[in-house]
Amino acid sequence: MSTLQNDLYLRALLREPTERTPIWMMRQAGRYLPEYRAVRQQAGDFMALCKNAELACEVTLQPLRRFPLDAAILFSDILTIPDAMGLGLYFEAGEGPKFERPVRDIKAIEKLGVPDPEQELGYVMNAVRTIRHELHGKVPLIGFSGSPWTLATYMVEGGSTKNFSLVKKMMFAEPQAMHLLLDKLAQSVTSYLNAQIAAGAQAVMIFDTWGGVLSPRDYREFSLRYMQQIVDGLTREADGRRVPVTLFTKNGGAWLADMAATGVDALGVDWTTDLADARSRVEDKVALQGNMDPSMLYASPQRIEEEVATILASYGHGHGHIFNLGHGIHPEVDPEHAGAFIEAVHKLSPAYHR
Ligand code: CP3
Repeated sequence: MSTLQNDLYLRALLREPTERTPIWMMRQAGRYLPEYRAVRQQAGDFMALCKNAELACEVTLQPLRRFPLDAAILFSDILTIPDAMGLGLYFEAGEGPKFERPVRDIKAIEKLGVPDPEQELGYVMNAVRTIRHELHGKVPLIGFSGSPWTLATYMVEGGSTKNFSLVKKMMFAEPQAMHLLLDKLAQSVTSYLNAQIAAGAQAVMIFDTWGGVLSPRDYREFSLRYMQQIVDGLTREADGRRVPVTLFTKNGGAWLADMAATGVDALGVDWTTDLADARSRVEDKVALQGNMDPSMLYASPQRIEEEVATILASYGHGHGHIFNLGHGIHPEVDPEHAGAFIEAVHKLSPAYHR
């Protein structure tokens, strides 16, 4: 196995010294890149792209050819697990993900199995192995999964939702059904992430996109508790190196201290929380990833650079910051603005590490 040429990202996650702040972007492989749109068209549809290891590898590497990024992220989706559980995932143009067979009652949940990652999700592991090979140790590869709560919202609603009516109805009216679903998902996510690590993922991230729609009590009971179960079951070392774990609850700024207490290495922070405030609340327990508003990439390169300066100053001196957007990059962004963003971090961050 080749040695890593750029391990800034892994070192920052462990709050070790780095000469500058590493950067990657959530959804860095995606529709804002014309070369991505071309490969997706070639694949036919989004899931066909995810299931083809060579093409998934190609789109994973595309942003790294354009920009000096410090990590690659597996090209896949969080909804691969519910798809492998038999819910029938499909994407309708302009409408986001949908399930043919959503789960709406305890009978449907009782029938769900925990997928074997090397069988039903073997295409994801093949993608991880292919990407890891083709990276030639240039930068580390991030594996990922959705959180049990976030996956449950899609599985119960049958797709994206504004009000979370069906999933909250189940949570409040049939809590034992919801807990059974979340427990099966926590088991599935644990074995899925461990399989990604065995296949070559050098860090993993858990996306809890919808934890922020819960009350503080419900967040602990229905989201954080199951992420804790996952963290407790993850492989934390591979190839003689620690495999850092990042937890990201969008809109979870109020709960960062609770999240840090799970024993993860890093937390993702969205733009609704100031990094200075986040840093003081997690003390020195974890590294922080974030947190520019992705819509800032619509502004001029000069305005983007000013915002990068503000965010670097907000985190302040010292290690343990991974620069990122506070959520995924929007499809309408001009790739040149993404380039200006990344350049600004390269230019301005060394001053914070001296
Ligand atoms: O970051 C990366 O570059 C890696 C790839 C990645 C994708 N999805 C590719 C993708 C990752 C990490 C995800 C995670 C994901 N998927 C999340 C959690 C992160 C987040 O954004 O909060 C969620 C909630 C999903 C579910 C999902 N997948 C939705 C809601 C959509 C539709 C989005 C839209 O804007 O239409 C997807 C599809 C999807 N996943 C695309 C990509 C590049 C767009 C598919 C396309 O049309 O090409």
